[in-house]
Amino acid sequence: MIATLSLLRTRFQEAVARAHGVEGADVLVLPASNPQFGDLQVNVALQLAKAVGKSPRAIAEGIVAELKLDEMCETPTIAGPGFINLKLKASYLDALVNASYADPRLGVAPAANPLRTVVDFSGPNIAKEMHVGHLRSTIIGDSIARISEFLGHDVLRLNHVGDWGTQFGMLIAFLRDTHPEALTDASTLDIGDLVGFYKRAKLRFDADEEFKERARREVVRLQGGDAESLYAWKLLCDQSRAAFEKIYQTLDIKITERGESFYNPLLPAVVTDLEAQGLLTESDGALCVFVEGFSNKEGNPLPLIIRKTDGAYNYATTDLAALRYRINEDKAKCIVIVTDIGQSDHFAQVFAVARLAGWLTEDVRVVHVPFGLVQGEDGKKFKTRSGETVKLSDLLDEAVVRARAHLDERLASEGREETEEFKTDLADKVGIAAVKYADLSANRGSNYVFSFDKMLALQGNTAPYMLYAYVRVQGIARKGGVDFASLAGLDNIHIAEPSERDLAKHLLELDDVLVKIAEDFLPSRLCTYLFELSQKFNHFYEACPVLNAAEPTRTSRLALADLTARTLKLGLSLLGISTVERL
Ligand code: ARG
Repeated sequence: MIATLSLLRTRFQEAVARAHGVEGADVLVLPASNPQFGDLQVNVALQLAKAVGKSPRAIAEGIVAELKLDEMCETPTIAGPGFINLKLKASYLDALVNASYADPRLGVAPAANPLRTVVDFSGPNIAKEMHVGHLRSTIIGDSIARISEFLGHDVLRLNHVGDWGTQFGMLIAFLRDTHPEALTDASTLDIGDLVGFYKRAKLRFDADEEFKERARREVVRLQGGDAESLYAWKLLCDQSRAAFEKIYQTLDIKITERGESFYNPLLPAVVTDLEAQGLLTESDGALCVFVEGFSNKEGNPLPLIIRKTDGAYNYATTDLAALRYRINEDKAKCIVIVTDIGQSDHFAQVFAVARLAGWLTEDVRVVHVPFGLVQGEDGKKFKTRSGETVKLSDLLDEAVVRARAHLDERLASEGREETEEFKTDLADKVGIAAVKYADLSANRGSNYVFSFDKMLALQGNTAPYMLYAYVRVQGIARKGGVDFASLAGLDNIHIAEPSERDLAKHLLELDDVLVKIAEDFLPSRLCTYLFELSQKFNHFYEACPVLNAAEPTRTSRLALADLTARTLKLGLSLLGISTVERL
């Protein structure tokens, strides 16, 4: 509806200018608060009262007398103190819906100014477990990337893997002790459980002073570019990468790895450039930038540490280098970083320093997209029964196993027989869809309670409910022997009944929702939209016979059902979820 709203805005501005001599009035066209009053509402008369010096009602009357909306709306009405209500003409609504139906993009125009966009998401750490927090980042980031891509932006999906830092000293020292042969022949190495390896190395590190010292020397060697150290480092990264890859495959995630190590050669310049600008302060031997507005719990100024006392760079230095690289080399105009909410201050400070240094300018939009904690059903941090962090691969496996159990139960209760192939494939898809949808449908800012039972329920704002709505439409076509493809592209749809009108208006709002998400990066908006779409479709289907209706109503309703299904399919695909034809 973006085009319609903008056209209405212009017509209102013209009417305001003619009636009251005010040019370029700030007109907001909003959905009507009560459908009884029509479809849309404009409050500009109330805003103009002061400037024009008349009662809002008189102003509204003046505007309405000058409005030229004949092809779009019924005669506008004035309500209350001066609200102008609009009802779209049936012919206009028909034209919009049919145009949408004929369009492979379903009426969503590509962005007028495509932007080079970086979406930095997932970001697991080498040799550490990819945990549920990384799952959230992965799913939310992927959806943001998909939506930006669909809107026509040029998106670079980046995996800022934690593949550098002092922990590698410890890991390499431990590798030398436990797998010395691997340092000359990588093929002999299969650590398998790299996380267990990390834990054992850490135990040793904490208990053994001599080992600790060796670990420190390994860090220095690695940072000095020693070939053998680099070989060992790469070995460890490769082992982790294989595990990450498997998860990305299961989740259907495309992402380019560009880890912390990539920016390593660029770190000294971050320091010298800040130094040259006089922005660095030495504090206890560490190099810091103080930015106004950041303070610690005690209210003292909180610096961003750029180089630690021992000369090591840190997470912040790398993020500054990454920001510079993305702006200068990648030519990004929009940079979105998806991490847990605990890193909000870090990014606010990094962005502030980059602004201060002049690296980040007005024409580049940087956004930290934070999300809340994943909690168990007990409201505590999400853990296994024995209190360990949940392995992502186990979690995804369990989702599929549970989806299969739900399916078997349902098939048994319906007395249906299906092939093993059908059941395996469906359980795979529904299990993963449920995990993704549950994550995306929750407002990302809040903590999120992970519940297999809720996410797999057939009722409610869940993936199964959404898939069911899609399948229901396909079922109508199967039952009626209808080929939806034969309906496309013709002006078949004529909106008549209230439930049809309600559904049609909602279908036309897809572009508004996607554009809003490109502003605030809340994919949950799309989930809400699709959930409401399914509900409105169900109301329509209850109120209006489809296959049993007489022509031309039958064809019109079939096309409306198909448009609903196509909207669901597109919407779900933007959440990284694929539809199924049967459930
Ligand atoms: N490795 C980080 C973590 O585990 C996420 C990286 C996010 N991206 C960034 N540019 N810092 O939380």
